[in-house]
Amino acid sequence: MALSTPDIAETSPEPQGEARAPLHVAIIMDGNGRWATQRGWPRLAGHRKGAEQIKKIVQAAPGLGIRYMTIYAFSTENWKRSTQEVLGLMKMFRLMIKREAAELSRQGVELRFIGDRTRLDPLLRETMDSIEARTKGNTKLTLAVAINYGGRDELRRAALELARDLAEGRIAEEAVDEAAISARLDTRGMPDPDLVIRSSGETRTSNFLPWQAAYSEYEFTPTLWPDFTPEELADILERFEGRERRFGGVAS
Ligand code: IPE
Ligand code: IPE
Ligand code: MG
Repeated sequence: MALSTPDIAETSPEPQGEARAPLHVAIIMDGNGRWATQRGWPRLAGHRKGAEQIKKIVQAAPGLGIRYMTIYAFSTENWKRSTQEVLGLMKMFRLMIKREAAELSRQGVELRFIGDRTRLDPLLRETMDSIEARTKGNTKLTLAVAINYGGRDELRRAALELARDLAEGRIAEEAVDEAAISARLDTRGMPDPDLVIRSSGETRTSNFLPWQAAYSEYEFTPTLWPDFTPEELADILERFEGRERRFGGVAS
């Protein structure tokens, strides 16, 4: 008997591989410490230079077709660093957010923060809340800054919220699908990243967006973050355009 094609209704998923826009680029900004140490400078000098680079990248992003950007500024594991470095970073975050608020607003950037804020200094939290409110609804670029962010911690918090919603009848068990998880993550409302870039030559993800980046493309560059330029970003995006994303399907 000849084999016949099984009579299964063809599901025709969206051609996701074609859908280039809106482009979400996530960046693990690594290498600030080494950049400073190479020059005999304190690590914080590297973080300051790194922060300057962020401004340039954010400014260039919309022109490169980027609509969403998520940047890793401080991980749940970074508390292991010296008190001096941690306090220096926290102070820098607060000053930078304050100083850049008006300019970001002018550029049409919507700023939001991902990560657990409860452990952050109240002054910093206040500054974060205020710039989020001020830039809400801006549409040129959504910039998510990950501060005290860890992907596992984010999933833990989402699991807790879901358990509460189930226990209190706000969601039925049958309704717990992948979207229900995504809706409880810090990144809710944002598309998954298309591309994750890590600078400084390390080829690991260090707890960054494990759920959201399940199907992202990755680019690892040896450039230390303070040396990362909009030109290098443009080159990486050009290479990304040439990649075929299959999402579990077959080559086209
Ligand atoms: C990334 O640079 C910034 C943060 C993690 C805050 P690093 O500080 O990790 O720099 P290296 O990896 O030590 O060079
Ligand atoms: C990842 O860099 C976190 C940030 C860029 C904020 P790390 O330097 O902390 O990562 P590991 O320790 O090399 O994995
Ligand atoms: Mg590092």
